[in-house]
Amino acid sequence: MYNFDKIIDRSNTSAIKYEARERIFGSNDVVPLWVADMDFEVAPEIAEAIKERANHKVFGYTLRCSEYFDVTQKWIKNRYNWEVSKDHISFSPGVVSALAMALLAFTKPGDKVIVQSPVYFPFFSTIENNGRRVLNNQLLDKGDTYAMDFDKLDAQIDNQTTMMYLCNPHNPVGRAWRPDELEKLSEIAEKHNIIVVSDEIHADIIFSGHVHTPFASVSEYASQNTITCLAPSKTFNLAGLSTSMVVVENERMLKTYNYMIDSFHIGLTNPFGLEALKAAYTKGEPWLQELLVYLENNRDFVYNFVQEELPGVKAYMPDATFLMWLDFRELGLTRTQMRQLLVHEAKIGFSEVAIFRDGGEGFQRLNFGAPRSIIEKALYQLKDAMKK
Ligand SMILES: Cc1ncc(COP(=O)(O)O)c(C=O)c1O
Repeated sequence: MYNFDKIIDRSNTSAIKYEARERIFGSNDVVPLWVADMDFEVAPEIAEAIKERANHKVFGYTLRCSEYFDVTQKWIKNRYNWEVSKDHISFSPGVVSALAMALLAFTKPGDKVIVQSPVYFPFFSTIENNGRRVLNNQLLDKGDTYAMDFDKLDAQIDNQTTMMYLCNPHNPVGRAWRPDELEKLSEIAEKHNIIVVSDEIHADIIFSGHVHTPFASVSEYASQNTITCLAPSKTFNLAGLSTSMVVVENERMLKTYNYMIDSFHIGLTNPFGLEALKAAYTKGEPWLQELLVYLENNRDFVYNFVQEELPGVKAYMPDATFLMWLDFRELGLTRTQMRQLLVHEAKIGFSEVAIFRDGGEGFQRLNFGAPRSIIEKALYQLKDAMKK
C-alpha cells in the first residue's frame, strides 16, 4: 500500500545526509548511506496532521497535551509490553540531549561512565565534553554477532564509576539485547550501584524473531535506576522534529531530571513535532508494519550481496535498526586506502569507522533505510570498484 521504492529528491531541504557530503566526504558525488535517517516519505497520516496544523497559522509556545501522554503510554505498552505511568514520562528535545541531561543530573565531574564500543559516537563526546570519563567495556566480537563482556565489566567498575550508557538496540552492531542479557547487566549494575541511561531510540525497528526489551522492565533495580530514552524519530523518520521523551520510574530521579530540564528551559515542544508524534502513535502502525517488511528485505539483500559478491567483506546480520555493520579488515587497507576505495572509487558515503572507537577500526556502517534501487546502486558501485 505504501511506496517505499519512491525516490525522493531531498535537495534544497538542508538534509544533513545530502548537504554535509562535501564536508564529510570531500565530495557531493557519493551515495549517502551514512547518518541514521531514512530516505522514505513519512506516513501520509503524519504529513496530513502536520499540514492541518500548518493551516492553523499560529505557532506559539506549545505544551505536551494530555493526549500526548495517553498515546505515548499506549505505544510503550503495545509495542514493548511495558506498562509505565503517564506521570513517569518526561521530555527531551533529542535523545542525545537526554543523555547529556542525565549525565549532568546524576554524575559529577570526573566520574566514569560505562559505554560498550563500538557504539554510537555521541556517547563518547557527551561524556568527555562534560568533564566525565569514559570507561569502555568493548563488546565481544563473536564472528557473526556481538555480545556484552559481563566478566570484564564486573571487573572494571570501580568506585568512581557511577553511570552506564546502554544502547538497546545497539547501534552500530544491530543487537536487540535479549532479556537474559539485560537481566545479567542489571545484576552487575545493582552490585555496583550504577545508574543506567538506556538509549532505546531504535526500539521499534526490530526484525522477525527478535523483540525489544526495555532495560527498565527487567528487574526492580533497573526500574528504579534507569532513565529510558525513546522517540518516534527513527521509527517514523521524524528526526528533524524534536520528538524525544524519557521514562523515569524513580520519582526522586524524575524530579532531579525535570529540574535539569527546567534549568535549561527546554520543557516545551514544537507544534509540528507534537502533531507528528500523535499521528504516528495513533495512526502509524500499518505504515510501520510495511516499513519493517521493506527494511527486512533490504537487510537480507545487503547481507546476501556482501556475502556473495564482495569477497573479503563480512556483514553482521542485525536483529534491529536499519544499520548494517560491515567488516572490511580482511582487505588489509589503511584508513586512507579505504577512503580512496569507498569515497573516490565506489562513490559511497558510509559512516566512518573510527568514530565508533575501539572495535570500529576496519569497519563501516551502512544505512539501508532507503529505496532498494539506491542500495543496489551503491553496492554494485562497490563491487565494481573492488574488482578494479
Ligand atoms: C543510538 C542513537 N541514539 C541517539 C540518536 C540521535 O538521537 P537524537 O537525534 O534524538 O538526539 C541516534 C541517531 O542516529 C542513535 O542511533
